Amino acid sequence: MSSKVVTVEWRDGAVRLIDQTLLPTAEVYLDCRDVETLAEAIEVLRVRGAPAIGVAAAYGVALAARVSTATDLAGLRADLAAAVARLARTRPTAVNLFWALQLQTSLSDAWPGSPNGLRAALLARAEQIREDDLAAGAALAQHGATLIPAEARILTHCNAGALATSGGYGTALAVIRGAAEQGKVAMVYADETRPLLQGARLTAWELATDGLPVTLLCDNMAGFLMQRGGIDCVVVGADRITANGDVANKIGTYSVAVLARHHGLPLYVAAPVSTLDLSLASGAEIPIEERRPEEVTSFAGVPTAPAGIAVYNPAFDVTPHDLVTAIVTELGVVRPPYRENLARLQSV
Ligand code: MRU
Repeated sequence: MSSKVVTVEWRDGAVRLIDQTLLPTAEVYLDCRDVETLAEAIEVLRVRGAPAIGVAAAYGVALAARVSTATDLAGLRADLAAAVARLARTRPTAVNLFWALQLQTSLSDAWPGSPNGLRAALLARAEQIREDDLAAGAALAQHGATLIPAEARILTHCNAGALATSGGYGTALAVIRGAAEQGKVAMVYADETRPLLQGARLTAWELATDGLPVTLLCDNMAGFLMQRGGIDCVVVGADRITANGDVANKIGTYSVAVLARHHGLPLYVAAPVSTLDLSLASGAEIPIEERRPEEVTSFAGVPTAPAGIAVYNPAFDVTPHDLVTAIVTELGVVRPPYRENLARLQSV
């Protein structure tokens, strides 16, 4: 039950994205033919979701190599370094971005051959990262489905689906799609996810398009639904997971995690190993993106707050590991103690 949507791919010498700022009302594809167009697309969330950002960034380096007019390796590497620096400035929280840029930089640094050989190798590496991302989603579906009970009513937050990866299964929605393949999903409740409505615009669209049962609710309704016994478990994605198992994910995830714990519900986090950042000891070290006040003070371009009002707009929060029941990866399900078990996973 994977999605048919192609979120990011290489097509005719460009990075092609489905423009997620226009969903669900229009399905428009954007061909990024230079790094600046791609960087802007990441910044304004035309492409978003940690794994999709990583894949887009890997293609971005291949794109920079393609458009570079350098004829020697030193010149090409200088152009690539500028592109990597630009892409690294787009969004700070999802570690997949930096992971992908590092992979491409290492390839370039160690490249022994011709500039054109490096151009081809960077594109091949980006294609491989995309393939691995799709395969990770399918594996997440297999492993995650084992956690979901029959007739499950599942709450999810933001969009961690095919739209947040290259396409296919997604991460949190991979778990849900895998459970649905086994006939275990009674209902998916999608938090709308203020302020940018990834749950309403993207998760509701993605699941409805694929014929999965989905009900939309405002973020502040989840607690009441849990209190009434309407949720069996929570499944979310992640933007960065630290060595102790702390999880950065879309703002509001922490609130959902606290609610889940209060109501005795399991909270599962689904993410590929490229979302692990074991170099950070805890979530306190994760850089949290703060976004423009206008995202909070207006709705669809219409002001909804007094002009000039002070605004607090972090794009992500950190859920402490003790609120996380298990972390689902493509290599298997990881349970506490996370410090030991995540370290063991990454050495596999
Ligand atoms: O700001 P966004 O839309 O990029 O945030 C996305 C999320 O927080 C997702 O839950 C996370 O990246 C996991 S996606 C597989």
